[in-house]
Amino acid sequence: MRIVLGVSGGIAAYKAVHLLRLLREEGHQVDVVPTRAALEFVGRPTWEAISGRAVTTDVFESVDEVRHVRLGQEADLVVVAPATADLLARARTGMADDLLTSTLLAAEAPTVLVPAMHTEMWRHPATVDNVAALRDRGVDVVEPASGRLTGADSGPGRLPEPEEIHAHLRPLLDGGDAVDGPIYAYAPLAGTFYAPHPDAQPALAGRRVVVTAGGTREALDPVRYLGNRSSGRQGVALAEAALAAGAQVHLIAGIVETELPAAGPRLSLEHVESARELQQAVAAQAPSADVLLMAAAVADFRPADYAAAKIKKTDDVDAPTITLTRNPDILAETVRARAARGGPTVIVGFAAETGDDATDPLELAQAKLLRKGCELLVLNRVGEGLVFGQDSTEIHVLASFGVQGVLGDVEPAHVVGTKREAADAVVDRASRLLAASGGRF
Ligand code: CTP
Repeated sequence: MRIVLGVSGGIAAYKAVHLLRLLREEGHQVDVVPTRAALEFVGRPTWEAISGRAVTTDVFESVDEVRHVRLGQEADLVVVAPATADLLARARTGMADDLLTSTLLAAEAPTVLVPAMHTEMWRHPATVDNVAALRDRGVDVVEPASGRLTGADSGPGRLPEPEEIHAHLRPLLDGGDAVDGPIYAYAPLAGTFYAPHPDAQPALAGRRVVVTAGGTREALDPVRYLGNRSSGRQGVALAEAALAAGAQVHLIAGIVETELPAAGPRLSLEHVESARELQQAVAAQAPSADVLLMAAAVADFRPADYAAAKIKKTDDVDAPTITLTRNPDILAETVRARAARGGPTVIVGFAAETGDDATDPLELAQAKLLRKGCELLVLNRVGEGLVFGQDSTEIHVLASFGVQGVLGDVEPAHVVGTKREAADAVVDRASRLLAASGGRF
């Protein structure tokens, strides 16, 4: 395939070098057309060495070849990455003041613009207007991802990783149509962007997945609370895995120590603090969910009395007592309520167990699975620094007696790996159950 890779002048131009390499490795002929500003970031020799072709930026270079028209006419695909706000504006107005914009005007091939700029520039009405006009014209302007930008700022405006741009181009490279809709979102755990694999029908397309993540805080007084050490990473990884599987995801985040994915067309976010807030949030979401992934570390107890004013130390009490009371068991409650009020077809509980000399964590998890009544239970082995806050984890996915037959010869999963790998295994089992359930078990 003949591809024109336009590069406009942003710091993210360096990422286009890797994109170029990926395209070249597949055997495509790629003509790189940097703007003059882009050459300030990555020089001509780099582009020429990797593309194996002459690189020009100006309409007055190699005039005899009429490159400003020929490149566009002959291209099977035109990609601009990064596309700056300035490039979008010039493309929108049909300007042809350099080789790249001339090529865009002459091109009849599918055109994909991958913007990268500061959030303020992306949100500016001028850019919004330019993007809308270009999209109306059939140009594929990819939604930028959110994340850390060049300075200390973060927000939407980041150029997706080269692999993700490449994944987005996949159907076009195979001669098909572009994937509908914005497929990029920032996956902070992976430090990259996810995109469902365009070749496959995503397992959870059209399904609604609710994920709870992080710990809860149970207030003692206006300044103190009881909390736990959950980082929320497993829950975030589950949300990312469900998104990658094509689901509509609602992420209910308790207290987390990790960056949350950016909300987008397929991801909504809600923040809660206490177990009872989480209970309300889950009760509101559960009836319309297909899958509930209950990864939050919910405090089993909360202080029985909340002091409206800060508790003061008093000299006559050495060892004050905090009386605790039970929190609702949200997971068990959701399982019970679904018979009457409806609710997720597949409910997945999580258990962090250490076990001890006498008890195997797997046995504890089996007992918990029975007690909670959910379809799947994910056992996390925890110990000194083993799971909390780490990216590596070890999980077993246990299936309740009622659904074991449905999973058939899919072994109960045992994953030792990253939290994302664990999350993929959980989402895989949950989506298989959902597909086999026909609505209910
Ligand atoms: N959970 C819940 N509501 C609670 C406590 C826990 O929904 N009040 C959920 C968690 O989100 C998790 C699962 O139940 O999915 C297991 O939590 P855990 O606290 O380990 O279970 P317990 O039954 O409290 O077990 P233990 O006896 O070990 O405390």
